[in-house]
Amino acid sequence: DIFGAERKNSKGLNMNIASESQPFFAALDNYKNTQWQAGPIINGEVVTGDALDVVSPFDTTKVVGTVVHADSAAIEQAMASAQNAFSTWSGTPVETRATALQKLADLLEENREELIALCTREAGKSIQDGIDEVREAVDFCRYYAVHAKRLMAKPELMPGPTGELNELFLQGRGVFVCISPWNFPLAIFLGQVSAALAAGNTVVAKPAEQTCLVGFRAVQLAHQAGIPADALQFLPGTGATVGAAITGDERIGGVCFTGSTVTAKVIHRTLANREGAIIPLIAETGGQNAMVVDSTSQPEQVVNDVVAGSFTSAGQRCSALRVLYVQKDIAERVIDLMKGAMDELSIGTPELIKTDVGPVIDATAKANLDAHISHIQQVGKLIKTVELSSNTENGHFVAPTAVEIDSIKVLEKEHFGPILHVIRYDAKDLNKVIEEINSTGFGLTLGIHSRNEGHALELAKRIDAGNIYINRNQIGAVVGVQPFGGHGLSGTGPKAGGPNYLMSFITEKTRTNNI
Ligand code: SER
Repeated sequence: DIFGAERKNSKGLNMNIASESQPFFAALDNYKNTQWQAGPIINGEVVTGDALDVVSPFDTTKVVGTVVHADSAAIEQAMASAQNAFSTWSGTPVETRATALQKLADLLEENREELIALCTREAGKSIQDGIDEVREAVDFCRYYAVHAKRLMAKPELMPGPTGELNELFLQGRGVFVCISPWNFPLAIFLGQVSAALAAGNTVVAKPAEQTCLVGFRAVQLAHQAGIPADALQFLPGTGATVGAAITGDERIGGVCFTGSTVTAKVIHRTLANREGAIIPLIAETGGQNAMVVDSTSQPEQVVNDVVAGSFTSAGQRCSALRVLYVQKDIAERVIDLMKGAMDELSIGTPELIKTDVGPVIDATAKANLDAHISHIQQVGKLIKTVELSSNTENGHFVAPTAVEIDSIKVLEKEHFGPILHVIRYDAKDLNKVIEEINSTGFGLTLGIHSRNEGHALELAKRIDAGNIYINRNQIGAVVGVQPFGGHGLSGTGPKAGGPNYLMSFITEKTRTNNI
């Protein structure tokens, strides 16, 4: 870690130690029937109005709470206030900004069980995913707090002639719009927001419309931690209304977006067409992530990593494995073991710790994924689809499925769910495999399984991917350890949780002084 002793990642929970797990489950239980309420937060005040019910993706008969979406008056107030607040927040010493973010990290840990309950009930995340989600959010806050201090506490002295003082200052860019996805409703939401705030920007944050309750609690905790009410404004709503309005606003200084490639391009066009300054877009989007498995690899380990990469979080991670290339010589063995491992998956309510695969986010996602499963079986050959039991009837569950196909080219886009595509390849066709993977234009994660190190490193060199994992699964990047993000259709970079991220939220100023 470049920050040494000044920063450590948060600790996890060991479910095998009763003294850790029992208090955790007891605390989680307190939120079983909580009804949360969310609305826009403008200058720290919650806006009331017509509220929509929020239901659980795993059981749509369960109401989790209500949300009020931002209307045009709320959007205008948020934008104007964030703009006014910029000079004060930007002029606040970076140490003070960092202290507030460190305090936010502490508050996230103190409120861990409520946040996990919310992630489970609103976003359908498994308990383990919820634990990891809170940890990642905590780690982002602490990472950017420490990094901002390192970068911004003092101007950098530049050389110059005698008598002339040359300095380089770093400062925030203005109002940063942060638009985050539902699949990491806390971690990515706060990752964006904490980076923007640490760098001295004020923030207008829009959560994904499916996960406004999580975002709302995060903003409340941020204000409680000492982020000024006017420096962080919260606007729940849809992309078509709130998202379009805030990205089209001429007062903004930058946009940080995580979501689909299609939406990132819409935002790019909106930024280009609006009045106002030329501003940066930081976009982290999707992938068509592959794993290449050669005949020297260990089939049991491969299958563990394939199942984790494809079906954890019901495949709803941008890092998830979508296309497995397996060398013909061991394909039969790997596919056989994989069928067995898929049989072992526990699918159902994410409120139970034993659940491996929860629901997908909503009815539209389910319909699209189910349609793809029907379609791709016609194009390829079904390997296995796990039968869903009756306990999934009230929710948006998609059966984990593996299908054999001939080429990645039959996949016209990313399918964001628990569907794995398998392609057998012959050793002599490895160049074709590399070309095929690169031809998608995405470049997010890549898995490699091989016990021939030279071979693995050669693949890592030739395949375009932002995050490459050799002999392990390709999900679960850790802040400060695997800075995360891709290129091409997968995003603009720089990588979240890495040493180059904050600079994209910063503008530079030199001062030459001959007084
Ligand atoms: N950061 C997440 C992961 O690595 C993104 O999907 O799994």
